[in-house]
Amino acid sequence: MTNIIPELNNFQIEKIDLEEFLEFLNLDSEVKAFLQKACELAKKRKEFLYFAGGVVRDYFLRKNTKDFDLVLEGNLEDFLKELFKEVRGEILFKSQFLTYKVNIEGNSGKTFIIDLVTARRELYEAPATLPKVFPSSFKEDILRRDFTINTLILGLTPPYEGKLLDLLGGKRDLEKGIIRPLHLFSFVEDPTRIFRGIRYKVRFNFEWSEEFYQALNKAFEISSLEKLTGSRIYQELKLYLLKESLENLKDLLELTYDLGVFEKVGLKLKRERFLNLVKWLEVLEKELTFQEKEKVFFWGLIWNSSEGALRLGLSIKELNKFKASEEFIKSRVSFLSKMGLSEKVEFLEKVPFLPLLVLSLFYEDLKEEVLNWIKVYRKIKPKLTGEELKKMGISESPKIGKILKFLRDKHLEGKIRSEEEEKQLVEQLLEEESFLN
Ligand code: CTP
Repeated sequence: MTNIIPELNNFQIEKIDLEEFLEFLNLDSEVKAFLQKACELAKKRKEFLYFAGGVVRDYFLRKNTKDFDLVLEGNLEDFLKELFKEVRGEILFKSQFLTYKVNIEGNSGKTFIIDLVTARRELYEAPATLPKVFPSSFKEDILRRDFTINTLILGLTPPYEGKLLDLLGGKRDLEKGIIRPLHLFSFVEDPTRIFRGIRYKVRFNFEWSEEFYQALNKAFEISSLEKLTGSRIYQELKLYLLKESLENLKDLLELTYDLGVFEKVGLKLKRERFLNLVKWLEVLEKELTFQEKEKVFFWGLIWNSSEGALRLGLSIKELNKFKASEEFIKSRVSFLSKMGLSEKVEFLEKVPFLPLLVLSLFYEDLKEEVLNWIKVYRKIKPKLTGEELKKMGISESPKIGKILKFLRDKHLEGKIRSEEEEKQLVEQLLEEESFLN
């Protein structure tokens, strides 16, 4: 692999219209005011403040960025203490990696969370472990990064105010659409970069450079991926859902599979399994919260493999709950088609929600019923509430539950529609004492 780290004093400098850049970021006026203050203070303290990473990359790609990394070459803790004498806000969180999350209180009373980072170098003591970090120069802060497209810097204060610094040919790679790691051991040190490289390839429709494959082979050779902890693999796969669009999930998983990454990290997956899962998530997309989607994704991926669950750090207790639900479903699924609607709904509601969604992947007969239930039937509820039933003279709670269920069944059967009809039905029930006893 050719060494792509050139003579660092010879880097490319380009003038940038800062106003236009800030406009592109489309910041709230209060965040802009905060940035202004931060720049003034950095100038006063003679410390270099700059944007780096995704935000600069996305500016050149003209892609919206949701968050940005603001980096200080200097003592960020002291800097923030001084800044908060002038700006209303506080440090919310400080990580072991010299990064800070701060909370800014704007004049309008709104608050904003901003990430500030110390320019730092990294020391990896062993492959696939988290690095030790040390404050350093902006150059070293660039050298610790994953891909050249993430190494561009946009200076906010002297000596590079309004300047784009391109130390490693990041702009050229951005223009050509190439994902290139900085050195051969990049993925040995941090195999999570492979997942990042997969995300960038799919998101931007870029190509991997020859160095990408060389670095990948090195990581395979040294068995670096095997050493990744379960929670780090989990977090990287979660980003497939969190940071990328669902329509890209199929490509992301296929690339991960085809590169042999699942196998290397110790996840024995089948292609049909995850393709089926992607289709199911697409169908469910609008019906689920992110947390629910996340659960269906992970449990669907490793379904009933204790080995898979252990590798991702998922709970075996939870796996056993899924297995118990499967036993319940297995014993009844063949009767589903013969059940009436209210009976079906009653059956589906006996199974916990997430196992029901995951198990639908493996029982075709269940899938369609679950979909109907999610999209239609579970949303059907009586208009009368428990409170209103009490006002109608029904006192005990089990009775109330029984009536509400009865009303819902009647709705499901299409026998009633309005609140008026519900009331009439309840009156009748009250007369037929036997129903309530
Ligand atoms: N980074 C890295 N290696 C990692 C994680 C992050 O080198 N394993 C560097 C990259 O240079 C990246 C920066 O840290 O640009 C910030 O990381 P992050 O916020 O995760 O990435 P973004 O570039 O903002 O990418 P995304 O658009 O996916 O959020």
